[in-house]
Formats: sequence, C-alpha cells, structure tokens
Amino acid sequence: MRRSMTAELLEIDELRRLRRDHRLGGAITFLPSTDSTNTRARDLARSGAAEGTVVIAEEQSAGRGRLGRSWSSPPGLNLYLSVILRPSVALEVVPQLTLVAGVAAALTAREWVADAGIKWPNDIVVRGKKTGGILTEMEAAEGQVAFVVVGIGLNLNIRPEQFPPELREHAGALSWFTGTKEPIARHRFADRLLSQLEQAYETFVRSGFGALRDTWNELSLLTGRSVRIDSSGQISTGTVIGLDADGALLLRDESGSEKRVVAADVTVLDGYR
Ligand code: BTN
Repeated sequence: MRRSMTAELLEIDELRRLRRDHRLGGAITFLPSTDSTNTRARDLARSGAAEGTVVIAEEQSAGRGRLGRSWSSPPGLNLYLSVILRPSVALEVVPQLTLVAGVAAALTAREWVADAGIKWPNDIVVRGKKTGGILTEMEAAEGQVAFVVVGIGLNLNIRPEQFPPELREHAGALSWFTGTKEPIARHRFADRLLSQLEQAYETFVRSGFGALRDTWNELSLLTGRSVRIDSSGQISTGTVIGLDADGALLLRDESGSEKRVVAADVTVLDGYR
C-alpha cells in the first residue's frame, strides 16, 4: 500500500453517516473553503440553526485563535470545525466551555497519541508541541445565553515544513506521534471528537464543570510545572497547583501564597513531563 502524507479530501459523506443520530453533528455544513468556521457558525446560529449544528471546512482564509491571533489553516491536512451550542446556563460559566472542549479534544487526541494533554486554558499539546486549540465565542440576549460557538482546530497531518516559519518551533501535528506513517483519517477523528464533546457537554450542562474537573486535572500538562504567567503584560511566575472549581488556574508563587489566574498566556519554564 502506498503511504503518503499528502492532502486527501475529508470524507464528509462518511462523517455525516457516522453522526446521523447524534446530538452534535446531526446537521453538518461542509465548506471547501471559508474565512472562519466560527464566523460561519455564528451567522448560522443568528439565523436560528439548532444546537449541535456543525460547520467544518477544508481550509480557512481567516482562521482565528485566542487573543486576536490567526490560526494557520491550510487545506486537506487538518481539522477546522465549529459547533453551535445553546446551553441553559448562567453567562458567567460559559468560558468554562473552553475547558469542556479541551477535555473532549485531549481525550480524542489520546485515542491516537497516549501522552497528548491540555495546556491551560485551551491548547492541545504533545511533547511540547502545540497541536490544537479552542476558541469559544458567545452571544447573549437579555442577560441570557443566545448561543455559543465552540471552534476547535487540530493539526492532524500537516508536515513541519508546511507550517509558516514563525510557527515551526512550537507547533506540531498528531500524526507525528502516532508511531505509524499513516495519515490520521480526518472524518474518523472528527466523529470521535464530536462524540467526546457530546459526552463532556452533557455532563457540564447536567452537573457543572466541577463534574469534569478531575478529568481535566488528569489531562493537564501543567500541574506541578514551573510557569511564567503573562496577564496583559503583567508578568509573574509560580508552580501550578491545578484548576479551581470555576476553571481558573491555581498557582503557588515564590512567597508560598496561592494565586488564581483567570486569563493569561502561560509559558512552561521547566519543560513538560
Ligand atoms: C487558539 O489556540 O488560539 C484557538 C484556535 C482555534 C482555531 C479554530 S479552527 C476552527 C475554528 N475557526 C476559527 O476561526 N478558529 C477555530
């Protein structure tokens, strides 16, 4: 059999068949090329698309990441998808959906690569390489959640030289670590990801993020690590203790006191375990 890591089209008919009876992905909008699946999903949600509707693209011309960054999205290699959710939860817990999706993405990644994990708040990392990320966006009306778009990007089959030069040092793809030369079948990965998200999301809506916290901590690559925190230019260092009940990162700083971090960029100072 010929082994190649060249671009193959996403098997969308097969993915639709696999998702037919599911709450997430029962309806899939497939776009060969788009600006950002999050933007397309937002527009669909504004026009009344049902919870569980998924937008998936072969490539994005304006893929978006956290903190206003762009998300490199070449065709045929990776997964770019967004899911519309309409949870009946308080506005302030919506950011926790990023952590919920992180649990789903890391558990799925582990089905292919056993030591994949989460770098708080939203990175999927393998052996120090960022292989995926999550961008959660919300719209509210009259103090209530109208909808949430959970966007997930996972580098599956991209080769090192296909990354833009500035990403090469820190970015990776799951297929580098599977131990085979076979590309990861993107429709199978997407199916498992949506099933994991379905399960984690149901737990979150029924019981709150607390019910997923132990799983999240088990998947976290940061616990016990020495880190540098950049909160909008305010720099601090400390050792990660774990995750607080609401999803904040808990640190012990040099003076021994506990600190909560709500939004920041984290750099690991002593390497991943
Ligand atoms: C990050 O790590 O900064 C988050 C990256 C999220 C990228 C995904 S790809 C699918 C969806 N569409 C987007 O424009 N962004 C998300």
